[in-house]
Amino acid sequence: MILVVDFGGQYNQLIARRVRDLNVYCEVVPYNKALAKVKEVKPKGIIFTGGPNSVYGDKSPKIEKEIFELGIPILGLCYGMQLMAYTLGAQVKEAKEREFGKTQLKIKKSKIFKGIKDDSTVWMSHVDRVDSLPQGFEKIASTQNCPIAAMENKDLNLYALQFHPEVNHTEYGKDILKNFVIDICAENPNWTMKNYAQRAVEEVRAKVGDGKVLLALSGGVDSSVVAKLISRAIGPNLTCIFVDHGLMRKNEGDEVEAAFKDSGMHFIRIDAEERFLKRLAGITDPETKRKIIGEEFIRVFEEEGKKIKAVDYLAQGTIYPDIIESGLGDSAVIKSHHNVGGLPDTVDFKEIIEPLRMLFKDEVRELGKELGLPDYLVNRQPFPGPGLAIRVMGDITKEKLDLLRDADYIFREELEKAGLNKEISQYFAVLTNNRTVGVMGDFRTYDYTLALRAVKTTDFMTADWARIPYEVLDKASNRIVNEVGHINRIVYDITSKPPATIEWE
Ligand code: XMP
Repeated sequence: MILVVDFGGQYNQLIARRVRDLNVYCEVVPYNKALAKVKEVKPKGIIFTGGPNSVYGDKSPKIEKEIFELGIPILGLCYGMQLMAYTLGAQVKEAKEREFGKTQLKIKKSKIFKGIKDDSTVWMSHVDRVDSLPQGFEKIASTQNCPIAAMENKDLNLYALQFHPEVNHTEYGKDILKNFVIDICAENPNWTMKNYAQRAVEEVRAKVGDGKVLLALSGGVDSSVVAKLISRAIGPNLTCIFVDHGLMRKNEGDEVEAAFKDSGMHFIRIDAEERFLKRLAGITDPETKRKIIGEEFIRVFEEEGKKIKAVDYLAQGTIYPDIIESGLGDSAVIKSHHNVGGLPDTVDFKEIIEPLRMLFKDEVRELGKELGLPDYLVNRQPFPGPGLAIRVMGDITKEKLDLLRDADYIFREELEKAGLNKEISQYFAVLTNNRTVGVMGDFRTYDYTLALRAVKTTDFMTADWARIPYEVLDKASNRIVNEVGHINRIVYDITSKPPATIEWE
């Protein structure tokens, strides 16, 4: 295992991702728990992340000197480099010029730079820099504004870089990380989802024994993979409750049922459409819609859960980014409670199990494939919990939902046929509550305007509208108007986020 010690850098997750991409397992640990964790798990290597502080700040994160004396290779990045230098008695100073963006790096021969060019592009983002070398260290790289852009202590296997190898803009970033993890730390690249699947099934089996597990299955990627994994481990002792709120996309409810109904678990599909639509009738405010759906979901889940006697565990699809984002360590527990978010007080259970808690999203997808889930579930794009309720503007009726379902299906089908689904992160249709005049044959129409939305994003916090070829939009537009009734005008949303959001409500 490689341990990534988090000093509050914006790229902490990315570093862990990159290490996992090398098929090496790693975990992120907050700096103030790092030494204890190192002693506990004895990692083969340690990576210090960057961070926004200056080592001289009163409240800036520090690290015990002892960590450098354990004989474990360490790679310090950005703040991690400065902290290594500072802790080992060297000087860190504010640079005259802040260095941000792409910079040319000149290197000297070093194990960490094996196979990379003498002159290459790296990504810098720093104010402070290391000004003198700690004892026993050598300078191994420089840039125009940073005379000591990298340093090493070969004997102690300590390496440090002022730039960010985890960022794509660093030309040889992946090679540098590989040199550290595979060559210097001598890690075995054997972290694969195939191995994980087997281990995770055994772990669940060992933990749960012949206890009973309850899971709210939404049909999204995470809960589907959890369902498959646990059912493989304990079969009929897993009960999945799939609350079909009638706000899913076309065929989605049936697809979820088809994927799970014969899988050996106890699968319950609750058709709650009528109940949800009744409560949503006449509601136009998006936040009120969300609240009603959340409450109703809990109520249905609770009613069904109560019918199952003696539940021991509640399973959840929490994944690693949820845990890292909620602050790591003890906060993982807080997140569990938060995830349960008022979930069944009346359904008693001993403990929560989260078999995906150490996995990133694409690892979850890979695991799903490994466990034999169909592609349409594994590659599903994110879909909001409140479903189509927030894609039908204004008040919701079954008729409007059906119109939207058909139109959305055609749009998705055309994008997928054009092979654009791999590069577009989220794509869907929105039924506006705007009606306009149109003409069809010899008749005047007065029908709905449909909006198409497609965005590219990595984090869903910001997003760019997708530049879909006109021909694809044209095909989708023609088909929707011809094949779906009561839509006579189609617009394409060309706003990014910000200033817009991805969803319309
Ligand atoms: P926005 O519209 O805020 O969406 O740019 C960002 C991402 O979050 C999804 N989203 C939701 N997911 N419940 C959810 O589970 C919600 O109420 C909700 N609202 C938005 C949205 O689909 C996008 O992926």
